[in-house]
Amino acid sequence: MLDGGMGKARQKAMELLVRYGAALGAERLIATSNVAGVPGSSNVFLHNYYKEYGGSHDAIFSFFDLDSDELVDVPMALTSTCHLQGGYDPDNWQLLGATAESFKIANASERFIEARGVKILKTCTPYLAGNVPQRGDHCAWMESSAVVYCNSVIGARTNTEGRESTSAAMLTGRIPDWGFHRSEYRRASHHIDVQVDVASVMDWGMLGYFVGQAVQDRIPVLTGRLMPPELISHKHFGAAAASSGGVEMYHVVGVTPEAPDLATAFGGQAPVETIGYGAAERRRTYEDLNRTAHDSDVDFVMLGCPHYSLDQMREAARLLAGRRVSGNCRLWVFTSRAVKQEADRLGVTREIVAAGGVVLTDTCSSISQAVPPGTRVAALDSAKQTHYLPAFMGIQAWFGSTADCLNAAVNGKWSGQAP
Ligand code: F3S
Repeated sequence: MLDGGMGKARQKAMELLVRYGAALGAERLIATSNVAGVPGSSNVFLHNYYKEYGGSHDAIFSFFDLDSDELVDVPMALTSTCHLQGGYDPDNWQLLGATAESFKIANASERFIEARGVKILKTCTPYLAGNVPQRGDHCAWMESSAVVYCNSVIGARTNTEGRESTSAAMLTGRIPDWGFHRSEYRRASHHIDVQVDVASVMDWGMLGYFVGQAVQDRIPVLTGRLMPPELISHKHFGAAAASSGGVEMYHVVGVTPEAPDLATAFGGQAPVETIGYGAAERRRTYEDLNRTAHDSDVDFVMLGCPHYSLDQMREAARLLAGRRVSGNCRLWVFTSRAVKQEADRLGVTREIVAAGGVVLTDTCSSISQAVPPGTRVAALDSAKQTHYLPAFMGIQAWFGSTADCLNAAVNGKWSGQAP
């Protein structure tokens, strides 16, 4: 491939990976069977930036994705590749404030990459939309919440890749053998001793936020008063830890695949530090998450970070049954296209819409930087979204349980309490 025997585009992709691997200090490349990125995705800025090439998708992929000095024709993907979240819901782009031009460009880039064999999942939860690697698989994934799930819960192996490396991996089926691909970099460094009951999704989200702040980009292993987490709890814990810190992998003793016991999780090393999570730490984390909020009037509720599962959609519909979103508030629920399709079929979407909510796909308020016009105070059930949205949009945000958020949607008032 590097010599050009498999075509110019794969040669350029391999050149990028060789440069990347050398910078990392990797000694070799390894085969990857699962790539999750945003190959070829375009927007108004990129379209205009490559105006001299007519904003062509080949040009964007060549110069932007592959950092190539030549325009190349983009061939079919060489390994299983899916497209993560984007900026526009194809059915609700106007609601998100997109222009017709920006939506047209995004849609055309989607058709371009789809024709090259990429699965258009358009979600930060590819593992809930049919893209599930096996334990030990070498992957090349972007999106911090998906990466931490892939490493920790599935036991597949990925670093937090970027657009360039995932697009190059798509065309070559290779990635540098470095970091989380190697067993010696998957061992725990910090022991988290959980001294309060952690059971609900909200509990797990707060614990994740605390752990990310405490260990930053190191690897924690958790023991203590933990109810065995469900898939959704892992999703919220990992997303929170990856946003307040840079956690890309964690272990829960007796739960995650590489931590049958504490000694195995540490790989024979002594912990760098043992950190307690008790009532005071939980209280402090709750207050920290709610630090931007002071007005109890809530005008926007956003659910679905990371994208809601079908069970979470059902739970939202159940909590809304017989109720109506306040005229002073908007409710947006984000999920993947795949989950929405099933929610549509089961009538779950209809129930949420009947209560006054909107179900959206592909993106979220942080990614699309879109909230309903006039939003001042939001309510969120995701620690990750609470970490980002107030900073991105200059608004206040309350953090609480899904029930707290939906009560706020119905009453237009925040009434959540610290656990
Ligand atoms: Fe997904 Fe947006 Fe959260 S892309 S993880 S819903 S910040």
